[in-house]
Order: sequence, then structure tokens, then C-alpha cells
Amino acid sequence: MSKSERVCQFYKLSIRKDGDVFPCCLGLPSSRLGNIFDEDIFNKIETANIDCECSLYKTRPILSEDKMDLKRLHIMFSHECQARCICCKQQKEKMPREKEHLEKILEIIKRYNPRYITVLGGEVLIQAKTLDWIENIKQEYPDIIFDIVTNLCVNEKTIKRAEKIFDEITVSILGFTPYTYSKIMGLDFNVTMRNYEYLLKNTNIKMRPKYLLMPANIYEAPLFFEWALNHKSEKIYLHNIREFEQCCNLKDEYWVKTFEQVEYEMKKLLEKYKEHIISQNRHFISFHPINAKMLKIDDDYIKANGFKDIIKITS
Ligand SMILES: C[S@@+](CC[C@H](N)C(=O)[O-])C[C@H]1O[C@@H](n2cnc3c(N)ncnc32)[C@H](O)[C@@H]1O
Ligand code: SF4
Ligand code: SF4
Repeated sequence: MSKSERVCQFYKLSIRKDGDVFPCCLGLPSSRLGNIFDEDIFNKIETANIDCECSLYKTRPILSEDKMDLKRLHIMFSHECQARCICCKQQKEKMPREKEHLEKILEIIKRYNPRYITVLGGEVLIQAKTLDWIENIKQEYPDIIFDIVTNLCVNEKTIKRAEKIFDEITVSILGFTPYTYSKIMGLDFNVTMRNYEYLLKNTNIKMRPKYLLMPANIYEAPLFFEWALNHKSEKIYLHNIREFEQCCNLKDEYWVKTFEQVEYEMKKLLEKYKEHIISQNRHFISFHPINAKMLKIDDDYIKANGFKDIIKITS
């Protein structure tokens, strides 16, 4: 597939917890545009000719007719979180200059008026100041579409606030029995499920459940998948920890056999829900490349079963 050439930062900006600004979530060092605390950050964003390439895009120099048309702003806030996921690299550190940091991001929003804002932490739903700040922006800019990546394991009062702010919610689920979930995440599965079902029944928020496959929860992936297929998901993610190949020798017979069993269950579900999946007629399910390879859900399988453009392999 030929890559689209563009000025990446004119479409998307990603702000890290330390205030560094990039044109996308990959945050490649060569694509760094500056920091929100730089005096001339707007000028840097609007004039930088970065040289970068990825699987979808290739950057090109800015032409006089190019204009900033910010579709999405992706913001990573403090790493504070109430969970203790065994796979998470974050150290729960707060943002050192939180108030000034939020003010600087607000200046970026005012200048570029993005259509979508994605927020994640840490866990934004337990960060009082950040949530107040997002709430204020939603009131001031009601047309901006907000989405969040969250563990959703919070109290009812917070859920009532969240339902007024967010249009799309990606829920990270790292196990699908209360015991596994509590061991992997240190959270209460029943609270998360209660919140999920509440939002699904009482709001129009687009819900996107995301399973993060790892050695400790691999057998519960089909339980998650069937639940997600039965719960009006906007999109279903079957991703995995990025370190899977580091922590396991996936060529070893143990893993080959384990994945064969999960493959059998997953393909049985894909067959059982085939009509429902095909009727979505849009990108509905996303498999991470490692999962796709181990579960033998490749392009040929996708095409042969009528899932083309509905099931995608994405990282
Ligand atoms: C760091 S979390 C922050 C947002 C929120 N606390 C949550 O867990 O959804 C963002 C995403 O990274 C995922 N994640 C955590 N550890 C990971 C790992 N080792 N490899 C890949 N993704 C990971 C989480 O499951 C989540 O979907
Ligand atoms: S080319 Fe790809 S990696 Fe580089 S800035 Fe653009 S979107 Fe990001
Ligand atoms: S809920 Fe998210 S931020 Fe918190 S520990 Fe888990 S992956 Fe990390």
C-alpha cells in the first residue's frame, strides 16, 4: 500500500505527560515538535518540517497552501492511578506543574480547536483536577468530541460525571473473571462491569472494550470476546502486552499448544457470530499483530470468512 504524504502535525497532535508535543502517538524522537512550555511552541508546531515515516504516512515539507486543520488532540495526563496492573510500566508519578500544564494545553485547544480530544493517564477518572479541567472544556466547547481510555473501576458519582463529558470510552480489561482481574489489575471486576452496563443501558456513549492479552489471562480472552459481541460494542480490541515476545518464547511447544486452544475457541465464536460481525459493515474488531499471528487470524482467514475491512490487524 502506498503511503500518504502529509504534514502530520497539521492533522493530529499528541502531548505527553512531560509536555512534549509530537504529531502522533508514536512519539518518535525525530518527530518531536517542542514542549508546551516553550515560548514559541505555536511557531514550532506551525513551521516544523519533520522527516518521518511509518506504516501509514510519510511526512513532506510544508507548502504555502497547507493549513492547520487539527482533527485530533491526544493528551496524556499524570500517571496517577488506583490500579496496579502487572504489565504497566508507569510509576504513578504526578505532573510536577499541574496547574500551569493544564493552562498551556488549554492555549493549544483555543488556538487549534480540535474536533476530537482523546485523554488518558494514568487513570484520568480518579484525577480530580484533570477531570474538573476536562469538564470545563466540554462546557466551553460542547462540539469537541471527547474520548477516554480508562479502567472504568470508579465510584458511581464519577461515572455520573463521566457520562456528561465523554462521547466514546475505551475500557481496558485485563482478565475476565473477578479473581484473575483482581490479581492482574488490583481492581474489582464487578464494579467495572456494573459501570459498563450502566453506561451501555443509560447513555449513547460509544463503548469500546479492549482486552490486553498476556500469559496470566490468555484463557479468558474468549470469555471477554463473547461478552463484547453481546454488548453493543462500537469496536472490540483484542490487543496484547507489547512485551509478549520478550517474556515468552512463543515458538515453544507450550505456547503453541496454548494458543491453539485459544484459537479453537476464538474461531468457534467468529463462526457463531459471523452474521452479526459482518452486519457491522465497518472496522469493528481489531487484533494486535502478535495475537493475529498466534491465533492464525491472518488476511487469508479474514477474507475467506467475509470479514474484510471489518476485522483488522492493527497495533
Ligand atoms: C497506560 S493505560 C492508561 C489508561 C487507563 N489507565 C487504562 O488502563 O485504560 C493505556 C493503555 O495501555 C495499556 N497497557 C498497559 N500496559 C501495557 C503493556 N505492557 N503493553 C501494551 N499496552 C499496555 C492499557 O491496557 C491501556 O489500554
Ligand atoms: S509519519 Fe507516521 S510516525 Fe511519523 S509523524 Fe507522521 S504519523 Fe507519526
Ligand atoms: S489502569 Fe492503566 S494506568 Fe493504571 S496501572 Fe493499569 S494500565 Fe497502568
